[in-house]
Amino acid sequence: MTFGRENAVAMRGRLRPDRRRQLLSTMLQLDQLTQRYGALTALDGVSLTIARGEFFGLLGPNGAGKSTLMSLVAGLREPASGTVRLDGVALAGRPADIVRAIGFVPQSVALYEELTAEENLGIFGRLYGLGGAKLVARIDECLAAVQLSDRRRDAVKTYSGGMQRRLNLAASLLHEPKLLLCDEPTVGVDPQSRNAIFDLLQRLNRDGLTVIYSTHYMEEATRLCSRIGIIDHGKILALGSLDELLARLPAAEIVSFARNGTPPAAIAALARFGALREIDERCEVLLAPGVRLANFFAATQAAGLPDRAFTLKRPTLEDLFLHLTGKTLRE
Ligand SMILES: Nc1ncnc2c1ncn2[C@@H]1O[C@H](COP(=O)(O)OP(=O)(O)OP(=O)(O)O)[C@@H](O)[C@H]1O
Ligand SMILES: [Mg+2]
Repeated sequence: MTFGRENAVAMRGRLRPDRRRQLLSTMLQLDQLTQRYGALTALDGVSLTIARGEFFGLLGPNGAGKSTLMSLVAGLREPASGTVRLDGVALAGRPADIVRAIGFVPQSVALYEELTAEENLGIFGRLYGLGGAKLVARIDECLAAVQLSDRRRDAVKTYSGGMQRRLNLAASLLHEPKLLLCDEPTVGVDPQSRNAIFDLLQRLNRDGLTVIYSTHYMEEATRLCSRIGIIDHGKILALGSLDELLARLPAAEIVSFARNGTPPAAIAALARFGALREIDERCEVLLAPGVRLANFFAATQAAGLPDRAFTLKRPTLEDLFLHLTGKTLRE
């Protein structure tokens, strides 16, 4: 048994208590992980520690480096430099250990279309080293978990996109991994399948599975993840819980209004209340901490602007992304 060897040492008390606690609670440690495709640096010195039992979100736009990070952790490619440690053990050159411990749900569905769900899971199960009654039992459990038991003998090509995604997830769970990598598992999925995927992942996480979940939907990261890393151009730009991340914005509230029809002098007056930014046809003022809304609206009235021209909202991760990068997650 290679996994947990360092943990066993930590347990026996040969390490300093603080190092011992750290080792026992760390599931995954990335150190200066870098990947290049030709001249492009797709992942740029990412260091990250994921604790056991976390539901970690990797939030970033197209091309940010999410899949690259996932594929390095899953051992699908070797990094240009840097290390991946799982349970304290460096994974380089240990494909068997990676397969045993990690479940990977790839961004594009990877299934044999001509085969049934059962046959697909049989193939994946044997790749994971399962067989006999154990494999049969795990296929039953995983099909039930993704609510596809009644379709088990149908060819995958007859499945909806959402059903294929759910089966893809089932395939990654057969061998009861301790770390699950989900790379945008809900893209193109109907709301019913999406909710089924969320419910299952949350249940598995409550039972102890560590999950890393990549998405470019801030709603998903907000709903699911206990900690979120915002990634762009191969770098983690911000890291923390939702509240910690939002606390990085220099605003507790944002007022939004149409640029057209608001005189430039009025816009300039409103900009005194916080940072002003323009998005498409709208302006937003990120009200500086301590600014009272009543004062803001007194100023809009003084400028002759109707209250109904303004909408008020709490900042979101989208606002933080815009603040950090100057662009939106969907750009
Ligand atoms: N095999 C490859 N060859 C060349 N460039 C690649 C390859 N894979 C990814 N890239 C580039 O590396 C960068 C990061 O890509 P990656 O797929 O990791 O991003 P992503 O965050 O997963 O994006 P998406 O949300 O679109 O899936 C992008 O600029 C992409 O074009
Ligand atoms: Mg991707």
